[in-house]
Amino acid sequence: MCGIVGYIGDRDAYPILVKGLRRLEYRGYDSAGVALVNGSGTLSVYKTKGKVDDLENYCAEKDVSGQVGIAHTRWATHGEPSSRNAHPHYSESKNLAIIHNGIIENYADLKKKLQQKGIPFRSDTDTEVLVQFVEYVQQKKSLDLLTAVQLVLHEVIGAYAIAIVDKRTPDTIIAARKQSPLVVGIGEDEFFLGSDASPIIEYTSRVVYLEDGNIAVMKRGKELQVVNIYNTKLPHEVKTVDISLGQIEKGGYPHFMLKEIFEQPECLTNCMRGRINVEADNVTLSAVIDYKKQLLAARRVIIVACGTSWHAGLIGKQMIENLCRIPVEVEYASEFRYRNPVVGAGDVVIAISQSGETADTLAAVNLSKERGAFIYGICNAIGSSIPRATDTGSYIHVGPEIGVASTKAFTGQVTVLAMLALAIGKERGTVARAEYEKIVKELVSMPAKIEEVLTVNDRVKDLSRTFTYARNFIYLGRGYNYPVALEGALKLKEISYIHAEGYPAAEMKHGPIALIDSDMPVVVIATHNAMYEKVLNNIQEIKARKGRVIALVSKGDETICQIADECIELPDTIECLEPLIASIPLQLLAYHTAVCKGKNVDQPRNLAKSVTVE
Ligand code: F6R
Repeated sequence: MCGIVGYIGDRDAYPILVKGLRRLEYRGYDSAGVALVNGSGTLSVYKTKGKVDDLENYCAEKDVSGQVGIAHTRWATHGEPSSRNAHPHYSESKNLAIIHNGIIENYADLKKKLQQKGIPFRSDTDTEVLVQFVEYVQQKKSLDLLTAVQLVLHEVIGAYAIAIVDKRTPDTIIAARKQSPLVVGIGEDEFFLGSDASPIIEYTSRVVYLEDGNIAVMKRGKELQVVNIYNTKLPHEVKTVDISLGQIEKGGYPHFMLKEIFEQPECLTNCMRGRINVEADNVTLSAVIDYKKQLLAARRVIIVACGTSWHAGLIGKQMIENLCRIPVEVEYASEFRYRNPVVGAGDVVIAISQSGETADTLAAVNLSKERGAFIYGICNAIGSSIPRATDTGSYIHVGPEIGVASTKAFTGQVTVLAMLALAIGKERGTVARAEYEKIVKELVSMPAKIEEVLTVNDRVKDLSRTFTYARNFIYLGRGYNYPVALEGALKLKEISYIHAEGYPAAEMKHGPIALIDSDMPVVVIATHNAMYEKVLNNIQEIKARKGRVIALVSKGDETICQIADECIELPDTIECLEPLIASIPLQLLAYHTAVCKGKNVDQPRNLAKSVTVE
C-alpha cells in the first residue's frame, strides 16, 4: 500500500526522502509527494500523479531545501489517482502537512462536520480530513501539535500510519500508528521514518517498530518519545535490523522479480539454516520446541492467508494432514474474519504472510486470538505486525521481497511448512522414520535442484514469445501441484494481464474443457507421481480438442513430450516437495511473458506489495 518516509536532522531532507520513496515504491505507486520544512519556517508541498521519477521531474526547478520533511507514495483508496489527491495534504492555512497510509472509516462524517464549520476541502481523500481536523482543534483550543493530534485520534475510526509537520514548530515530526506499519530509525541527532525499514537501513540499523496506539514525537536533538492518545509515556524497544543494502537492490538483474526468482536456491538455504541438521537427518524449529504442548494438543489447524500465501497454505494443508494426521482448513483471511468462524481453544491458527502486514490476515489473527486459539505465524518481514501479534512462529528468512509478484516468499513459505509438518509429525509419532528422513534429505537437496531448474530460463523465455498472443491461459495440476497451478495462473495474470485460471486437472471436465480450442494454451504439471496416468489422460483430452499443451514433466518423460506442444523437464523429487520445483518455471513463464508484452513487471498496475487496507 502507500509508502511513508520521514526525516529530521542536520542533513538535506529531500534526497533522503526521494531515495526512501524509491525503496518503498513497490508498496503503491499511483502518485507521490513530499513536504519540506526549511530553516526559515516555510512549508512546501510538492506532489504529482505518477511515479517517483515524475515527482523528481516536477521538483527539478523547485526549492527543495529543508532539513525536515515527510514524503509519500500513494496507492489510491479514496479518490482517483491525481495530483490533487496525492499526499502530503496541507491544512487550510497551509501551516500543517500530513501523509497517511490506511483508511479513515468515519471520514465522511468528520468531513461533513468540518464543512459545516466552513472548512473547504481540496481533495477527495479521507486523509485531508485528518489534517483539517487537527488544524481546527489547534485553532479552536490553542493547542500544540501533539495535543491536537491526540485529540483528533480520539475521534478517528479506522486504520492509519500518519506523519504530520507544522511549520511553526519546524523541529518536530509527529507520527502515529494504528493497524498500519511504521518504523522509526534512530541516528545521531536525527530520526528517520518509514513504512518499513528499507528507507532507513542505509543510515542506521537502530529502529523502533511502533505498536498500535503509539504516537512518536521526533524532535531534532532530543530523545525519541513515544506516547499514546492520553499522553501516557510508553516504553519502546530499540532493535537492530540486519538487512543489508545489497539485499534490497537489483544486483545486476533487470527486475527485482527476476533477481528474486534466481535467488531462491540461496534463500531456501538461509531458510533451512540452523533448522535442519543434515548429519542427524533432523528438523528443529525453536517454536515447536518452545510450544510443543500447544502444538501437540491441536485438535485442528486453520491456515489463514491471502493470495500467494494462501496457495502456500493449500500445500501446507496436505503436508500437515499427511505427516501429522491433524485436520487442516485453509481459509482466505478476508472471508474468515467476517463470517463468525468456529475457532477457539484447541485450534492452532497458522497465519502466513510475506509482508506480515496484510490487514485481513492480521485481523484473522486477532480474531482467533481473542477466541482462544494458539497462533503461529509464518512471515518474512522481521518485526512486522503479524509476527508481533502471534504466540510464536517461524520466519522464512528469504530476505526482502521487492517485486510485487511473490516468488521467493512462496517457496520459503512452502519450505517452512514442510519443516513444521515434519517437526510436529515427528513429535506426534505420525510420520515413519524412513519417510521423515527421506523428506529431510530431499529438502536439503532443494537448493541444488532449484539451481538446476533455473537452467530452463532461456527455454522458457523462447516459449513465452510463442504464447504472448494468448488472451487466456489454463493451468492444471493435481494433489500437491494443484496449488502450484493456482499460483502459476496468479503470477501470469498479475504481471502480464493475461487472464488465467488454475484448476485441479480432474475438474477440467466439469466446465473449463468448454474453453479449449486451438488458441488456448494449457499449462499442465504432469510430473511422475501417483497421479501421472490420470494427468496424462487429461493431456490427451486437451489435445483431442486442439488445445496447446505446455507440460512440466519429470526428466526423460518421452510419453508426454511426444503429445504435448512444449515440454519443460524437471528434476525428480518426492511428491510433497514438487511444488518447490514446479513453481519455478511458472514464475519464469509469467516473468518473460510480461517482459515480452512490455509490462512493468515489478510494479504491475493496480497492485501493491503490502495490502494494509482491507
Ligand atoms: C501475489 C502476491 C499477493 C500476496 C498477498 C498476500 O504475487 O504477492 O497475492 O501473496 O497480497 O500478501 P502477504 O503474503 O504479504 O500477506
